[in-house]
This record gives sequence, C-alpha cells and structure tokens, in this order.
Amino acid sequence: MRMRAAVLVLVVFVSLTEAARCVPTSSPHCYKSSTKPSEDFICEWDERNPEKGQKHTLHIWDPEKNSFRMHVECTKPAQADIFLEDLGTPLRKTDIWVQTQVGNLTCNSTKTSVILECMVKYSKPCIISMKRSAGILNLTLDKPKDNRGAIYEIRWRERDSEWQNKTFETKDSTTEDFHMLHLQDRTVYQIQLRRQAKLHAHQCKDSLHALWSDWSQTLDVPSEIRHAPVIRRKEKDLKNGSREINLFWDAPPHEESAGGVKYILKFWDWPCEKNKRKKRKTKDQSYNTTIAYSEVKISIVAFNNVGHSPRQHIVIPAVKHLNYCNSDMHLNITKADNKTCLEWYKLEDGETRPETVQSSGKKLIKDIKNEVENYVRHYYFLHTIRNKQYQTAIMCPFYSKERAPNHGPANVNISDITHESAVLSWLSIPVAAQQGFLQHYWIWISGQGNTKFHQVPANQSSFLIKELHPGASYTVSISGRTKAGNGPNSTVNFETHSKEMGLSWQDQTILIVCVVALLCTVICSVAARRLKLLPEVPIPVIDAAEFRCPEEQDQRPKLEEVHEFILLLRQDLSKRRENVTPEQSTLLQDFGLVVFEEEDEEDGEGGVTDFSSMKSCCYPNPSYRGQMLQLPEPFHMTDSTSRDSETEPTYRDGLFFETRVLECDITSL
Ligand SMILES: *[C@@H]1O[C@H](CO)[C@@H](O)[C@H](O)[C@H]1NC(C)=O
Ligand SMILES: *[C@@H]1O[C@H](CO)[C@@H](O)[C@H](O)[C@H]1NC(C)=O
Ligand SMILES: *[C@@H]1O[C@H](CO)[C@@H](O)[C@H](O)[C@H]1NC(C)=O
Ligand SMILES: *[C@@H]1O[C@H](CO)[C@@H](O)[C@H](O)[C@H]1NC(C)=O
Ligand SMILES: *[C@@H]1O[C@H](CO)[C@@H](O)[C@H](O)[C@H]1NC(C)=O
Ligand SMILES: *[C@@H]1O[C@H](CO)[C@@H](O)[C@H](O)[C@H]1NC(C)=O
Ligand SMILES: *[C@@H]1O[C@H](CO)[C@@H](O)[C@H](O)[C@H]1NC(C)=O
Ligand SMILES: *[C@@H]1O[C@H](CO)[C@@H](O)[C@H](O)[C@H]1NC(C)=O
Ligand SMILES: *[C@@H]1O[C@H](CO)[C@@H](O)[C@H](O)[C@H]1NC(C)=O
Ligand SMILES: *[C@@H]1O[C@H](CO)[C@@H](O)[C@H](O)[C@H]1NC(C)=O
Ligand SMILES: *[C@@H]1O[C@H](CO)[C@@H](O)[C@H](O)[C@H]1NC(C)=O
Repeated sequence: MRMRAAVLVLVVFVSLTEAARCVPTSSPHCYKSSTKPSEDFICEWDERNPEKGQKHTLHIWDPEKNSFRMHVECTKPAQADIFLEDLGTPLRKTDIWVQTQVGNLTCNSTKTSVILECMVKYSKPCIISMKRSAGILNLTLDKPKDNRGAIYEIRWRERDSEWQNKTFETKDSTTEDFHMLHLQDRTVYQIQLRRQAKLHAHQCKDSLHALWSDWSQTLDVPSEIRHAPVIRRKEKDLKNGSREINLFWDAPPHEESAGGVKYILKFWDWPCEKNKRKKRKTKDQSYNTTIAYSEVKISIVAFNNVGHSPRQHIVIPAVKHLNYCNSDMHLNITKADNKTCLEWYKLEDGETRPETVQSSGKKLIKDIKNEVENYVRHYYFLHTIRNKQYQTAIMCPFYSKERAPNHGPANVNISDITHESAVLSWLSIPVAAQQGFLQHYWIWISGQGNTKFHQVPANQSSFLIKELHPGASYTVSISGRTKAGNGPNSTVNFETHSKEMGLSWQDQTILIVCVVALLCTVICSVAARRLKLLPEVPIPVIDAAEFRCPEEQDQRPKLEEVHEFILLLRQDLSKRRENVTPEQSTLLQDFGLVVFEEEDEEDGEGGVTDFSSMKSCCYPNPSYRGQMLQLPEPFHMTDSTSRDSETEPTYRDGLFFETRVLECDITSL
C-alpha cells in the first residue's frame, strides 16, 4: 500500500512539474485553399500541451536570403493566417516553425521546409448528386473554389469489406465535376472521395508538395428504386364537409432503402388553383391529411441517395354524388372571396365525373346556375378553407332548366298475377333521360271501362296493383314526372286470372302438403312391410269390416257358418305325434291359426297354402298377412276338403280362430 501511495505522489509531482514546462507544437501545416495567385495562406498545427496562457508565434525564414520573411503572432488557437502582401513571393522555398512561450520558457516546433505556392489543399469534395442505373453510378461533384479541374481519388466498398480505390482527373472547362463508376448491380456500397489540385508552376513538379483534401463523408450507395410506392388509403368522412385521409405505403426493399428513403407527395386538392399543388416531404411511410368532398389527385415519388422511383398517381374520388340537394350541409357562404372555391361539372348520368371540370374562386352557384346547358344535370361543390383545412360547404346536383323526361321507364313488366292483383315493375328512368329531378311516377290502370290513377315516389321501381276484377284485361301506363311535367307513357297490357283457376298459393301449399303426406304414409307402410320393420305381432283390434267379403257384404251374419275353412295342422314330418310336447299340442289344440306367409312362393316344401281353397272364404285384410304368431316350432299348414263337424269358429281376443280337435292324418300328406 505504502509503495503504491508513493508512486502516486511521484506521478502527481512529475505531472505538476511538467505542466510548467514548454512542450513544442507539431510542425505547422501551411496551405492555401485554391490555386488562385491572390489566395492567402493558412497554417495549422496541433497543440500538444493544453496549458493555458501559451503564446504561439509563427516564424517564416528565407534560407536563400538567410533572413526572416515574417513573424506572425497567433490570435486563433492552433492556426495562423498568412497574408500574401506580408509574405512577398510565395514561390521561394521557406522554412516555417512555431515558437511556443509558456511563462518565461520558450520552445520551438520542428521546421517544415516548403514552397508555399505549391501548398494547395482543396476543400473536401461534395457530392451534388448520384444517379445509379444498373451497374453504373454517375457522380456529380462540386468544383473546387478555383473552378479548376482536379485529381480525385474515389474509394468504395461493400459494407464491412475492403476499400477499392481509383483516381481520376477532371477538366477545367466544366461547371461541375462528373465521374462514372462501374459497380455491381443491386449491391449496396459506401463511397468516399478526396481531391488535390493540379499544380502548374514548374517549382511544384515534385508531387510531394501536392496536398490531398480531407475525405468526403462516407455515403451509402443503394441501388435505384425500381417501383413506385403503392399507396393504400383509409378514408373517414368527418361529416362536416371534410374527409380524413390516411395514406400509407411500404418502404422499398432493403438494397434500395440503404442510406434512407424520403417520399415527396403532391396534392391537387384545391380545384381553384389547378397548377398549385401542396408538396409534402416525409420520411415516414404514412401521411395523414384532410381533404374536401370533391376529387383529389395525389402523387408520390420515393427518393434515395441515387435517384427516385417512378411517380405514382392516385385519385381519391369525390364522395358519392347526391341525387337531390342535401340541405343538412350547414355552412352559410354568401360571398365569394379568396377562401372559397366553386367547382362544377356536367354529371350526365348522375355518377361519372367528366374530364373537364370548371372552377372559380370568384363565383357562387347563383352566378353560374343559368350559364350551364339546359336540361342536363350538373353538379357543384362550394369549398372553403377553415382552420387551414379544406372543407366542402355544400354540394348539390342542379339543372339550369328542367323539362319532362324524354322517355318512359323501360322494362315495364307485370308479374305475380292473381285474379285480383298484379305487380308492376319497371327500370327507373336513367338520369340522362330525366332532364330534371324526377319527382314521381304516375301510373294509370285502365280496364273495365274506368281508369285508376296512382302516384309513387321516384325512388321506387315496383307497385302492387290491387282490387282488380278476375278474368279482366287491363292496360297500365306509367310515366316519370319532373317539375316540368310528365314524360311519355310506357304501356303494358295484362289479364287477371279467372277466379276458378285461381287457387291461391296458400291453397296450393296445403294441397301439396296433403299429397306429400299421403305419399309418405303409403311408401312408409310398404317399406315397413317389405323390410319387416314392424314387430311381428298381430294387431289386436280388427275391424269386423275388414273380414268382409266384398261380394258378400249383406251376408255378414253367415260369416260364422264357415263353408270352407282352413285346417291348420301341425305336421311334423320328422316326428311322430307322440313327440309333440304338451305345451305345443296345447297351443295347437287351442288355436287353429290361419297364417299367410308373404314369401309363400319360396315356401314350396315347408307349408302349402292354397288360396284357391279360400275363394269363398273371408280372410283377414291383406294387411294382416305376413304377421304371424311366434310359435316355438315351425308348423305346416294344409287344407282339408272335408268339413269337420267338430270345428267351431270363435273370436277370441279380437282374432278370428277356428278351434277344432286336431286329427292329424299323416296319410293325407
Ligand atoms: C522567470 O525568470 C525570472 C528571471 O529572469 C525568474 O526570476 C522567475 O522565477 C522566472 N519565472 C518562472 C515562472 O520560472
Ligand atoms: C526558437 O526560434 C527563435 C526564432 O528563431 C529563436 O530565437 C529561439 O532561440 C529558438 N528557441 C529554441 C529553444 O530553439
Ligand atoms: C450516366 O452518365 C452517362 C454519360 O453522361 C449517361 O449516358 C447515363 O445515362 C447516365 N446514367 C444515369 C443513371 O444517369
Ligand atoms: C489505393 O489506395 C492505396 C492505399 O491507400 C494506395 O497505395 C494506392 O495508390 C491507391 N490507388 C489508387 C489508384 O489511387
Ligand atoms: C395517420 O393516422 C393513423 C390512424 O389515425 C395513425 O396510425 C398514423 O400514425 C398517422 N400517421 C401519421 C404520419 O401521423
Ligand atoms: C346566411 O347568412 C345570411 C347573411 O349572412 C343570412 O341573411 C341568412 O339568413 C343566413 N342563412 C342561413 C340558412 O343561416
Ligand atoms: C385573400 O384574403 C385575405 C384576407 O381575407 C387578403 O388579405 C388577401 O389579400 C386576399 N388575397 C387575394 C389574392 O385576394
Ligand atoms: C370537422 O370535424 C372534425 C372532427 O369531427 C374536426 O377535427 C375538423 O377540424 C372539422 N373540420 C373543419 C374544417 O371544421
Ligand atoms: C318480368 O318479370 C319476371 C319476374 O321477375 C321475369 O321472369 C320476366 O323475364 C320479366 N319479363 C320481362 C319482359 O322483363
Ligand atoms: C324513397 O325515399 C323516401 C324518402 O325520400 C325514403 O323514406 C324511402 O326509404 C326511399 N325508398 C327507397 C326504396 O329507397
Ligand atoms: C299516359 O296515359 C294516361 C292514361 O292513359 C293518359 O291520361 C296520359 O295522357 C298519357 N300521357 C301521355 C304523355 O301520353
């Protein structure tokens, strides 16, 4: 610790003692800034001792004459001016040094030995413009002060790589220096330049005397911008005659935007000064402004260090043209002054703004209303400037004179005819044919010896004609009407439906629904039977009528005396009767069932069902066919031609049964 403190004290002591010493400056650097013979010189040096109260004196010594040419007391820091009239001829070799005085100590810098006339140092070059196209960069540079040609050194590199350099000379006769540099296309570079004078005095042939200027600032060289920015926009109607417009666009690709891009927008937004346009510069990729209601043209150009993009124009169309004058717009302007602008044009079809638009800052609508073509729709805007914003005070369509439309509505059509009504429809009369503000359509319906009249608003294009007579023919005439009267009629004839034919659509709907429901029922029942979707259980209640023979309706009471019947036998070919289980036999003895199989054709071997034997019999409604009782064992049916006195028909549980004592006659099979 002690050791360190001692060293510190020593250092402070040494620096304190040194501060009092005289430290010489660097050797002076003397030059003039152009080759003009009348130019004065400047000498510069570095002060190596930042002590206050130093005095510097520049000594210029003539070694030929062995005498001082001059002494210059320096007033500016690190610099002295040498005036030509004090110096005499600058073409001789001179020795120059700086004497420094601190308190009563003096010291001298090293000497420099120069011919002052040869010491020309130009200002650093300034790039006036760069233009790049493909691989060529055109550079325009300012001339040095003496307007002479110079020797330039240019160096360039891709970012973070080695400089490449070359020198070139320019001529005396031009007003700007120019150089064409070959570069690789679509690559970003940095460049710098410096220059030196071309010396003409023979004493200066020694190139050691030529001084380079400082390097110019490093400049980024992007490649040229090939495409104009594409403006997108958002628009908001502020409802007070102004629109807020947000314009935005994308920056060019990286290699085009190196070194920065700026955009210049021009607005043609005040129609009364067509050639004056607002110009706005921005580095942002968006611009917001307020415009009035009429059309505004905008152009944009993107600039970078080496040029600019093509110009992009956009047109912001006027707000939708009104069909009628809108009285909500509130500004009351009674005098044309230099803050108003009246803009007007023909609007023949009610929509399309024409190429030629007239405008005047000295007129109001009353001044032009009678000047424009009669019977043709025109449109005007009256703009003002409020709070430095453009605003539309009023906009309206107008006619100098109106007259009746020159034709009637087109495509007049009758549809939806019933026995008492029909719908009349038409295409509205185009603005160009209206010749005035269309107020109404007038409709006459003639038929049955009288004419009815209706008036409908001009913005409608259909009308329901009611209270017509069935089966009658009518003529409809329709014409458009302006303030000046009615235009020609468009006429259509039609006939109402007669009442009988006239099933109303409700009736038709109900009918269709009924038919569909019926069809569904039929289809479903058939399908259910086909697919045996229903459980194979007999329907418990059978209407007696179902069993009726169509030809024996009046013999119903005889039904119970069955003349021909079906014997249901339990036939088990493989087993003898004794093998029949008690339950089965009971079942079979209790009920002799009439069972009809649907697929009887396929049933050749199993049971035999002979329908011919049932001709005179009443059998259940066919819809019950195919339903069968589930029996534990298959059984076979056979018919018997012999009448069995022991058979007695019964109704039980709503089913028709024949119960009999079953005599199984094996030989009958
Ligand atoms: C300047 O010189 C005088 C004698 O010439 C001497 O007395 C004085 O101390 C010197 N001053 C400094 C600051 O060295
Ligand atoms: C510095 O130059 C001046 C002028 O020539 C001279 O008088 C002086 O002795 C020189 N001083 C030193 C320390 O060389
Ligand atoms: C560069 O200069 C040459 C010669 O003046 C000219 O032909 C060329 O069109 C220029 N290129 C650009 C991009 O300005
Ligand atoms: C390029 O720069 C190098 C290093 O500064 C230099 O030696 C050379 O002379 C320069 N070449 C040209 C053509 O100026
Ligand atoms: C323009 O307005 C939009 C939305 O109002 C905003 O996001 C944008 O920053 C504005 N641009 C400028 C340049 O003020
Ligand atoms: C418009 O201003 C005039 C005079 O400045 C006035 O006579 C007129 O009543 C005003 N109209 C409306 C609608 O405010
Ligand atoms: C425009 O109006 C302002 C004040 O209303 C006036 O000072 C100016 O002279 C006018 N300019 C022209 C060109 O009439
Ligand atoms: C229109 O209204 C908006 C806000 O609603 C306001 O910012 C703007 O200044 C108004 N413009 C004029 C010209 O009064
Ligand atoms: C009339 O209107 C009906 C229904 O809109 C349409 O089908 C028919 O083509 C129209 N007839 C004419 C002549 O326009
Ligand atoms: C027609 O105009 C009236 C008022 O002028 C409006 O109430 C109505 O909605 C418009 N009808 C149609 C179909 O545009
Ligand atoms: C249009 O038809 C109605 C009724 O038929 C008739 O009164 C009117 O005069 C006709 N209008 C024209 C311009 O023919």
